[in-house]
Amino acid sequence: MNILAFESSCDETAAAVVRDGRTVLSDVVASQADMHAIYGGVVPEIASRKHIEAVAGLADAALERAGLGRGEVDAVAVTYAPGLIGALLVGVNFAKAAAYALNVPLIPVHHVRGHIAANYITHPDLEPPFVCLCISGGTTAIVDVRTYTDMAVLGATRDDAAGECFDKVARVLGIGYPGGAPMDKLARGGDDGRYGLPRAHVEGAPLDMSFSGLKTAVLNLVHNAGQKGEALDLPGLAASFAAAVSDTLVPRTMEAARLLGYGKVAVAGGVAANSRIRADLERACAASGDGLYLPALSLCGDNGAMIGCQAYYEYLAGRRGGLDLNAWATRDIAAG
Ligand code: KG4
Repeated sequence: MNILAFESSCDETAAAVVRDGRTVLSDVVASQADMHAIYGGVVPEIASRKHIEAVAGLADAALERAGLGRGEVDAVAVTYAPGLIGALLVGVNFAKAAAYALNVPLIPVHHVRGHIAANYITHPDLEPPFVCLCISGGTTAIVDVRTYTDMAVLGATRDDAAGECFDKVARVLGIGYPGGAPMDKLARGGDDGRYGLPRAHVEGAPLDMSFSGLKTAVLNLVHNAGQKGEALDLPGLAASFAAAVSDTLVPRTMEAARLLGYGKVAVAGGVAANSRIRADLERACAASGDGLYLPALSLCGDNGAMIGCQAYYEYLAGRRGGLDLNAWATRDIAAG
């Protein structure tokens, strides 16, 4: 079954063709990051307009690279939630038109479910159930992946997402947007004990997380140093920050894995590319005996292949979208 999939939830327009869930025939992405970098973050209206410009060409490119004609598409899939509403609507409306024109089913896909599915592409042997740490620009959650389409959130951030926190701190340090990857690079040469940064605990909710205090702590540190005219040890600060984020994420993920006992831990989303978090999870899983599944670096960020992969399992579970399909800025992963 060939699924033509679209992703447009934030600042990447992406299209892909995925066969039977796990074979990626093509995967094309047009990033708008350079455009938004001028403003230090994503400008929603610009994102929507850029998606409109890119989506039709990407659809043709995805089919051409897959070596398929339009008549060989068996279904169209699209990210319909969560994300920037205007950006999502571009993909949703294009996908609706494509499904109608090709006379094939339309499959709505939850963006974070797509990120989780990136692991199925990287690890052909991976099957649910497993625990998945979902960490992106908009989401930070520990998810119980019971089946391909039955999921529950075990713990989540109460405020900022981990990626958002990386981006805001990078902006304050003048590193640019998006800041996660350059912060990661900078941290590699730094002493992670250089600055004492907070690790928050949510009273009564041991698997929940909070990053706003960490973000404020870095901001205060930078402002205080500026006022006193002191130079900051930037690699040390980046390493101390990455350690604080990882110390918040990894023990909770491992506790969830212990409670559920599946023996499998996966990671998903843009922040899954972070070298500190990956290394800490590798150590923790080696100690606990859990199998660790990390997505390929190329599949951590937003892409169409992950949407096409998850769409296959949504299709098998009977999920279909009508021409009245709407986009949602927020939507629980359990609702699908
Ligand atoms: O999954 P993604 O591409 O978009 C969303 O679905 O949100 O994630 C983007 C986020 C950004 O916040 C970016 O700074 C972060 O992932 N990111 C990283 C790294 N690479 C990307 N954060 C930490 N370390 C990285 N190596």
